[in-house]
Amino acid sequence: MIKKIFFILLSCTILFSCSTTIATQNSTPAVPASPGGIAYQTEFETGIEPWQARGDDVVVEWAEGAGYGGKNALKVSNRTKTWHGPILDATELIHKGGSYFISFKVKYNEGPDTNSIVLSAQVIDENETERFINIYGDTVIKGEWAEITTSYDVPKNMSVIRFYCETKYKNDDAVTEDDKIDFYLSDFSIKDATTTVELASENEIKSLHTYFDFPIGAAINAYQVNPKDPHYELLRHFNAYVCENEMKQDATEPKKGSFNFKNPDKVVEFANKNKAKMRGHVLVWHSQVPAWFFEGTGDDGLATKDELYKNMKNHIDNVAGHYAGKIDSWDVVNECLAENGKLRNSKYYQIVKSDEYIANAFYWAREADPKAKLFINDYGCEGPGAKQDGFYNLVKKLKSEGVPIDGVGLQCHISMDYPSVSDLRTTIRRFAELGVLVQITEFDMSVYQDSNEKKKQATNDILTEQAQRYKALFNMFSEEYKQGHLDMVVVWGLADDTTWLDNSPRPGRTNYPLFFGKDLKAKPAYWIFVDPERLPVFTQKFDSTFTENSSLKEKDNTWSLVTPKVIVDGKGKEYASFKSLWNENSLFILATVSDDKKDDTDSFTVFIEPSNERLREKSKQASSISIPRSQAISDDGKTYTVYAEIPFGNFTIKPGKKIGFDCRVTNGKKINSYNDKNNTQETSSFDYAQATLKVLPPLITAKKGTVKVDAKIDSIWNSQPSIPMETISQGYTLDGSTFKVLWDDEYVYVLFDVKDSVLNDQNANAYEQDSIEVFIDQNNAKSATYEADDGQYRVSFKNFVTFNGGEEEFFQSKTRLTLDGYIVEVACRLYSITPEEGDLLGFDVQINEADASGIRTGIRNWCNATNMGYKDTSGLGLLQLLN
Ligand code: XIL
Repeated sequence: MIKKIFFILLSCTILFSCSTTIATQNSTPAVPASPGGIAYQTEFETGIEPWQARGDDVVVEWAEGAGYGGKNALKVSNRTKTWHGPILDATELIHKGGSYFISFKVKYNEGPDTNSIVLSAQVIDENETERFINIYGDTVIKGEWAEITTSYDVPKNMSVIRFYCETKYKNDDAVTEDDKIDFYLSDFSIKDATTTVELASENEIKSLHTYFDFPIGAAINAYQVNPKDPHYELLRHFNAYVCENEMKQDATEPKKGSFNFKNPDKVVEFANKNKAKMRGHVLVWHSQVPAWFFEGTGDDGLATKDELYKNMKNHIDNVAGHYAGKIDSWDVVNECLAENGKLRNSKYYQIVKSDEYIANAFYWAREADPKAKLFINDYGCEGPGAKQDGFYNLVKKLKSEGVPIDGVGLQCHISMDYPSVSDLRTTIRRFAELGVLVQITEFDMSVYQDSNEKKKQATNDILTEQAQRYKALFNMFSEEYKQGHLDMVVVWGLADDTTWLDNSPRPGRTNYPLFFGKDLKAKPAYWIFVDPERLPVFTQKFDSTFTENSSLKEKDNTWSLVTPKVIVDGKGKEYASFKSLWNENSLFILATVSDDKKDDTDSFTVFIEPSNERLREKSKQASSISIPRSQAISDDGKTYTVYAEIPFGNFTIKPGKKIGFDCRVTNGKKINSYNDKNNTQETSSFDYAQATLKVLPPLITAKKGTVKVDAKIDSIWNSQPSIPMETISQGYTLDGSTFKVLWDDEYVYVLFDVKDSVLNDQNANAYEQDSIEVFIDQNNAKSATYEADDGQYRVSFKNFVTFNGGEEEFFQSKTRLTLDGYIVEVACRLYSITPEEGDLLGFDVQINEADASGIRTGIRNWCNATNMGYKDTSGLGLLQLLN
């Protein structure tokens, strides 16, 4: 008897049971793939075997030429249930417990405009328990190939596994015609995602640390200082080191009183010999500490305070004493704070019940090694919030009591989008103002947003984006170093192959957070500093704007609402710019080129690939149009402007659709492209940019006028309309709040009239207090992360002001309570543009609503409901400056 268990990951609808019609496989079993290799791949070149039909009467057949890019496909028809579809027995193709990337293309031609296609697995385990697992599903647009890629970890006790494709599950009784679509499958592959790559570092490339003015270190392990180890070659990129694990309490004193310095000695010797700085990590920590530290004669066998202090002091005396004179900076106490900024409820705290153990550790460390700089180190304090405040207050207090703390370590285990460069800069300065040194002690940059995100491959785009963020942050580090706010930066590992972020916090997931890759080769994060020309082509992404007035061509008013995209030459000099609009039939381009030598070769060329296939070969779907300068709509001899209209062909065009796009300027032998810097657009669409077809966000206009920021209503405000805030972004807020906007040569002024019956500012998080926020993206770049011109300004009803990006110095605000809420008047300076009539800014306003207990219960905006405005400006609305 087979026991059946059903797993539905995507839909929470009623679980289903089904029988499958699967004949025994007669194909030769393939050998499971070696790590990193291809476990199974088909383009259905000669037929569909070993694929079969899942479900009675379902037909799977070979469809010649109907596949992706004109290749062959598998067609499935006669489906009467959502779970009907093609099925592949993969038992012999993949390993138990293995980790795989599964990828395929899918398309359907008849039926609803969109549908969901799901990849599922039928797994029978060694106990004969059968499960149906929805691995991954995605929305597919009628008539278009969609690529579905997902990772999958095979259960360790798998005895049979079959993959199948279906439409989104519905109870058999609820199935409609829309669920019975025929569909095509193309290019199906299963690749081994376990990485075992040959490790070989590049010995000819330049030493990274020479590109930085501040000391830059790496966490290493003793085996890596052996010249025979492939990591050895990477050591020369750094001029500071720290032991990743070997100087921790469990490594140096595994048994009470018995010390072991064999491995860390090797690292310290290597550092000293190479005149590199050495950090010591760590003397007091709640993790990687042997249990005996806390054992003694107190309650429940716990050490008494005296016993604990004896253990700590003896450990510090011996360890810091052993290395006295050889360590630049010691992490004396690590991670002593809880997430709320209070002291962590560690064993140390449970025994001592105060911060006294921290103070003592510093006194003892100072005695043991008077030359070392003594640090308190923690994570999660990089951005504003309760933990950072707690850290700041603790250091301030201990310093005022005379505790010998020399420095604050910000670990900086960060991600691609948090914290912002400006937040981290503010944090560094905040601690530096306490009169302590600041070090970044464990820098790495996860490519995932959070622990929920599934395993993904590190694509060129991800790694290039990571490099850009590395560059922005390390440039900031350099500025702060020069100003004396920052002392050193250390990255947590030599290369991605040994990062502690593999499998943590999510088992089965690999990560790519460092300068060097899993193969030890330099990544874009390295090349962006050393030789930016070696960066891979990056897929630039931008939004094209819908127009209803396409017959007006270049005279369409909508052009004035679009921000131009810039084309740069090889040296990064701005060369041309273009704007784009779209309707159901065509894409429209208005481009301006600077070229003061007019000749017959001058032209502007636009390429589109509406299917966004991104092929390494010529795509059948791609088309282009070239406009010679002689057809320019204006030309003053220095710059010329061209208008181009390029039809989409037979594609269904809808808002949200992404298309492949590129354009380039030809000037004699010089060709400069927007995205594909190798100018291979005719033969490959792989390096095209990507345009998303968007409908214009909401737009408001503001009159010019200057007001005094005093929360009184100057008469000029009366000429401005009250704009309602009707976007409910979260929870509950009172209806009726409005705002008005004005601008002048220096400022944008906003006047809020907030309706709120209970005012509260008890929460330590400013964003949870009753408050308003203004978001301004001065150049309306709608960027996915904050740039220098982007700012978020928050003002509580008591006029407590907090910032994220933007400019603090000239910001003005005043508040006043009203009978039904409060009024806030603010002035945000326009520091990165010179505002002119007609200018468009990205803009939004927000209300944070706190309840009587001080918890945020609601968020209301004018425009953007995503709650992402604090880091992503793409969802902001538009503010147009008028006279
Ligand atoms: C990590 C190491 O990288 C891992 O190898 C080990 O298994 C666990 O500890 N904060 C710290 C570091 O202070 O000591 C941690 O190092 C990462 C988080």
